[in-house]
Amino acid sequence: MRVLALRGAHVIGTARSRASGEAACAAVRGRATPVVLDLADFDSVVAASAAVRALDVPIDALVCNAGVVLGDLEQVRGLEKTFVVNHLGHYLLVRRLLDRVTAAPHGRVVVLGSGDERNAPRGGIQFDDLSGASWDARYAHSKLANGLFSLELSRRLSGTRATSNCVSPGHTRSRILRNVGNRYRSDARSVQQGAATPCWLAAAPAAAGVNGGFFRDFAPAPQSDMQRDTAMAARLWSVSESLVRDWLPG
Ligand SMILES: NC(=O)c1ccc[n+]([C@@H]2O[C@H](COP(=O)([O-])OP(=O)(O)OC[C@H]3O[C@@H](n4cnc5c(N)ncnc54)[C@H](OP(=O)(O)O)[C@@H]3O)[C@@H](O)[C@H]2O)c1
Repeated sequence: MRVLALRGAHVIGTARSRASGEAACAAVRGRATPVVLDLADFDSVVAASAAVRALDVPIDALVCNAGVVLGDLEQVRGLEKTFVVNHLGHYLLVRRLLDRVTAAPHGRVVVLGSGDERNAPRGGIQFDDLSGASWDARYAHSKLANGLFSLELSRRLSGTRATSNCVSPGHTRSRILRNVGNRYRSDARSVQQGAATPCWLAAAPAAAGVNGGFFRDFAPAPQSDMQRDTAMAARLWSVSESLVRDWLPG
């Protein structure tokens, strides 16, 4: 948010509470508008997308950056919570704002994934048990979902001026491990370093028109066969659609 606002963007920054969103927006130089968004609560996603729509502007870049790592199994509406927050909430948000992205001259969706996607459960997305009760590696599973979502979205956007890409920030000393002991490796990068490639994908002229990639450090990055599986990506799209159908636009 800091860099994009410094470069002249009007940044709409989301946060779970109004106070934290206002504090974050007040801390950057440039134009930043807070919007309340809790990705675990689909009604909140609907309200947030309505607040963004009320600003009545095209969206040049929709950066799906929020994410959690949870310790124990938690569920929302019977679904594993990491999958809900990291993937499903973003899926719904993008579906509700996509027309604003395609209205921009070169609208970009940027989805934060992770190299950890390769550690997702065998077979990939656990369509037969999204409750999470019968499998582990919940964060890796959610990050695979992020990658597959971006892949299917990029296919759906081909032929338009808009694009979708997935990006790993690399191992970054942020607050992501706060629920599991805050143990970062000694080679962890700074938040500024981690945010650099997502910013580049969101705003750099060099990244305009790039579609359907998985990036790290400003370049295409290796990914698992699962994350390149177009059939799994298409199935995830339709399963996600049925899970949030009641909150999709009519
Ligand atoms: N850090 C790494 O090593 C690493 C590596 C690979 C990929 N990533 C990905 O990079 C992205 C950014 O993570 P980060 O490292 O910057 O972690 P972070 O410091 O924990 O930031 C994550 C953000 O997500 C927000 N969030 C959590 N639950 C939410 C919810 N239910 N609704 C809305 N927002 C919610 C958090 O808000 P609150 O402050 O209110 O909790 C926080 O602002 C994530 O998608 C993560 O999976 C990170």
